[in-house]
Amino acid sequence: MGKCLIVGCGGVASVAIHKCCQSSEVFEEIILASRTKSKCDALKSKLEGTTKTQIYTEQVDADNVDEMVALIEKYNPDVVLNLALPYQDLTIMEACLATKTHYVDTANYEPPDTAKFEYKWQWAYREKFSEAGICALLGSGFDPGVTGVFSAYAQKHHFDEIHYIDILDCNGGDHGYPFATNFNPEINIREVTANGSYWENGRWVETKPMEIKREYDFAGVGKRDMYLLHHEELESLANNIKGIKRIRFFMTFGQSYLTHLKCSENVGMTSIEPIEFNGQQIVPLQFLKAVLPDPASLGPRTVGKTNIGCIFQGVKDGKKKTYYIYNVCDHQKCYKEVGSQAISYTTGVPAMIGAMLVMNGTWSKPGVWNVEEFDPDPFMEALNKWGLPWNEDFNPVLVD
Ligand SMILES: NC(=O)c1ccc[n+]([C@@H]2O[C@H](COP(=O)([O-])OP(=O)(O)OC[C@H]3O[C@@H](n4cnc5c(N)ncnc54)[C@H](OP(=O)(O)O)[C@@H]3O)[C@@H](O)[C@H]2O)c1
Repeated sequence: MGKCLIVGCGGVASVAIHKCCQSSEVFEEIILASRTKSKCDALKSKLEGTTKTQIYTEQVDADNVDEMVALIEKYNPDVVLNLALPYQDLTIMEACLATKTHYVDTANYEPPDTAKFEYKWQWAYREKFSEAGICALLGSGFDPGVTGVFSAYAQKHHFDEIHYIDILDCNGGDHGYPFATNFNPEINIREVTANGSYWENGRWVETKPMEIKREYDFAGVGKRDMYLLHHEELESLANNIKGIKRIRFFMTFGQSYLTHLKCSENVGMTSIEPIEFNGQQIVPLQFLKAVLPDPASLGPRTVGKTNIGCIFQGVKDGKKKTYYIYNVCDHQKCYKEVGSQAISYTTGVPAMIGAMLVMNGTWSKPGVWNVEEFDPDPFMEALNKWGLPWNEDFNPVLVD
């Protein structure tokens, strides 16, 4: 049916690429383009012969709009799936505009020199994308991504009004290292060392990093400590879910992770301010990334499960209602299927689904959109089909 250009070839992209190759009738051709072409070539060699999808590889610096435009013009894809880093979102969107090509990503733009992610930079493209007749689908990973689809599904099928959403992201996996991050260490550490915040009664309430802690008993995992974080889908869901009074996001962290993180922070290793070292400028956090295990290498050694989902409270037919929808994903099962751990898997599968729905026109409308602004049903069906089945609980334990 079509052609997809995938930018980036890290942990998440590797899963999305495997999944595209399982769906050759939709992804007839894929172009793998990244900063380090050898990673694209290695994946192509691994997958060729196992799929009918035709695979091409290219080197690209996605920070450079002209290079991206030239690449898009060379292959003329139906959609560009951005699985590089949040820093590249705007340059890739610019190239999509210049070539009138649809755009999908999994993380919102973040300026490299300020640890702050916000949708305002990408939402500013709404009119331009609309006028160009092309669609940008933002945040088609798990969180953001599936959490937005779960919210749209709850809104459509279960509530007249949703008042409270708690998003719970639990990684019950164990990789055996004292400290490693499950996706890009730089992006991950910037996220968790920032102040937390939640949305309540029309305004943001800010907290200190890790200030709010709760314990929750997760299906498939067991009891875990979780901490309130700021997270990007809070911003779009606050706009798109009618009647919403409060949205919070919690993520689980083990004690060893927190101790190592605190120590790194205390000695300045998580700073993004450049320092002089042996006659050159280095960013401490980028140096830390270089010495930490590559998240893409965690697959073989990670055991256990993830459980990510949303608890909704609201009203239906004049009565109070609660509803929990979540996915449980097994690290080793993912590794056996696509050679990656569950964090990359739970992001790469929805990225493929988003690109598929935009490419086949199911979710395509001109403009810049977050996932919850589309009909959730085709996405929900695809989650069951492509490896992320969901569970429902109509009487969940609530988070106080
Ligand atoms: N929504 C969600 O649920 C969710 C969850 C996890 C991650 N994410 C997002 O998913 C994205 C990928 O994460 P990941 O863990 O796969 O990261 P990763 O393993 O570090 O992979 C990033 C890839 O992008 C490439 N890249 C970086 N800068 C580039 C540039 N200027 N031009 C071309 N390619 C470039 C890297 O190339 P090299 O190989 O040369 O380094 C690497 O292949 C990130 O944006 C992350 O925030 C979203």
